[in-house]
Amino acid sequence: MKPQVLQLNPILIPAINDQLASLYTVHKLFEVDDKDAWLREHGASISAVTTGGHTGISRAMLEQLPNLKVVAVNGVGTDAVDLAYCRARALPVTATLGALTEDVADLAIGLLIAACRNLCAGDRFVREGLWEKFPQPSAIPLARRFSGMRVGIVGLGRVGRAVAVRAAAFGCPISYTDLRAMDDVPYHFVPNLVDLARESDALVLCAAADKAEGIVNAAVLDALGPRGFLVNVARGRLVNEADLSDALTAGRIAGAGLDVFVDEPRVPLALRQSDQVTLQAHRASATWETRTAMAQMVLDSVNQALAGERPAMSLTT
Ligand code: 8YV
Repeated sequence: MKPQVLQLNPILIPAINDQLASLYTVHKLFEVDDKDAWLREHGASISAVTTGGHTGISRAMLEQLPNLKVVAVNGVGTDAVDLAYCRARALPVTATLGALTEDVADLAIGLLIAACRNLCAGDRFVREGLWEKFPQPSAIPLARRFSGMRVGIVGLGRVGRAVAVRAAAFGCPISYTDLRAMDDVPYHFVPNLVDLARESDALVLCAAADKAEGIVNAAVLDALGPRGFLVNVARGRLVNEADLSDALTAGRIAGAGLDVFVDEPRVPLALRQSDQVTLQAHRASATWETRTAMAQMVLDSVNQALAGERPAMSLTT
């Protein structure tokens, strides 16, 4: 009998799904209505789980899978997996390290340019026929230049560094905050997030969310100020969304570009209604190129674990 693989999130690459299906019996939990009942009945037969970075897997679900040999995360964020518990169980948790760096950084810059140049509001203005109604140039407010903006990066990991390289190419002075200063980069280290916000025209969030819930709060947004922009391509819960909504509504910051939210797919009304905000539906890694590389890594991790090897991308074993 083939080993059984449980998918918590769809993998969008048909060729990888075909390979998974040829090697394993694949169960799509995301298509099951009564997930608890399904897990009670079949949990013990599952050898591998594949899941998304944002979805992860709960401790309660892990406990219903006693014969699990790997959790293969189709993403880099592992904040939705209890790594300490998996370590104690000697259970490999793998991530797609390095596969999505460039795309996520590309989207961060895209969101920042979209936010400060008001691209989406401009698009709507043309699309809805308002240009013909209001042809005078003053009908659309002037925007803010991106080139040369002081960019502050929160979390100088792979993605943060890739954002820095791109922003530097636009002539942007780069500062960053992280748990410690890094001596292999030419960027200015600022230990405190409020100080970084005060010294920046744009804050770009690229940090892991594990121990950083709500770090972008009213104090940080006020330090960023009425000409400042916030971009988030990391995790929604880094930001206090109520504080962000208030700051945008009151004009205490200039705008935001957001790919991630606290309670996806629910996005607060104030953010959806603001012309100052450019929104995406957690799409930073969603290109054919990156999702193919990610899915291949997931398949490799499952294959390695089920062949009795330590998966190369394991973070816990
Ligand atoms: C993916 C992510 O959208 O890498 C992550 O942690 O959140 C995203 O890049 C997600 O994992 C796709 O399943």
